[in-house]
Amino acid sequence: MPLIHDMDRQAAVDLLHRLVTVGVEFKLDDQVTRKRLTPQDIRDLLVTELPEQSTGVHDVAQELVDVVLPLCNNEASPRFLGFGHTGADVSALAAGLLALFAQQNLINQSFAAPSATFTEIAVIRWLRDLIGYPNLPVNEVRTVWDVGGVTTYGGTGSNTTAMLLARENIAPGTMHTGVANAERMHIVVPAGIGHYSVKSALEWIGCGGRIIEVPTRGYRYDLHQLEKTLTERRDEIMSVVAYTGDSRTHTVENLRAVHDIARAVRPEIWLHADACWGLMCAFTPELAGKLDGITAFDSVTVDPHKVMDIPYAMSALLVRDPASLRLVSSYSDLI
Ligand SMILES: Cc1ncc(COP(=O)(O)O)c(C=O)c1O
Repeated sequence: MPLIHDMDRQAAVDLLHRLVTVGVEFKLDDQVTRKRLTPQDIRDLLVTELPEQSTGVHDVAQELVDVVLPLCNNEASPRFLGFGHTGADVSALAAGLLALFAQQNLINQSFAAPSATFTEIAVIRWLRDLIGYPNLPVNEVRTVWDVGGVTTYGGTGSNTTAMLLARENIAPGTMHTGVANAERMHIVVPAGIGHYSVKSALEWIGCGGRIIEVPTRGYRYDLHQLEKTLTERRDEIMSVVAYTGDSRTHTVENLRAVHDIARAVRPEIWLHADACWGLMCAFTPELAGKLDGITAFDSVTVDPHKVMDIPYAMSALLVRDPASLRLVSSYSDLI
């Protein structure tokens, strides 16, 4: 494979230009999939042995265009109703292309990513602004602890980070010492509504899948049952998760009521709102009221790749108190 320095400059530009055109045509295609094969046929076509002979860059590109792309779903097709993930915003595609070339490592601002770190901070602040979390004046943003969010690879990553915060909040230092008493680390979710990512997160972070499902009414918490559960199991619960647009029904929780009940029972409970879908409410005055109460939650997951037509992967965990991210920070003198 040629490195960009080894290739004829114009040939590199032409190849990349051609693939951008192929990509635009793919997005504009009315079809969801150009070619349908059985999973076994796709497996046999694509799962090949490590090639013994090298292949030129043009042949590799042609193979991707001829063999792989026709079997890809075009989620931007008007016929596709599976998800909202179209990845069709032209400005985001343009930025994504540039990001591929810029190849910035975000380990630190000084020697690795002089401007990308600040670009990321700006995006986090815009997302905070959209859901109503306050931002410090720019000239007071001096460290990452003044920002109030992290970008992640998806809603799953953001929800997992939220669960880590919930764990450290209820048992500070667990990240250093390990989980000592997982019985304190249950989380509450609405029955049948909770997304699998929070249960997986609990399992990944060593709490075990300690989910308490509270019955719902109209796809929201039954508030009476919520209060009863929180009161009865007060000392076992580290977090209450509420859905601001759940994946099955897109119902938005009664956020203010959930907040008031949980805080009254036990103020330390970490309140997390999964607004992967609900972020869209922030863009229109007709729906903005549905987010009422969200700013009192300790953390909020938003997924621009779901609702803003932005290509994968763009998710963020936003936190009410920016300094709370210190709960999960670790230090290395290497970076
Ligand atoms: C409510 C909700 N939370 C979390 C996720 C996980 O998001 P991602 O696929 O970006 O990891 C989804 C995905 O559909 C979702 O609907």
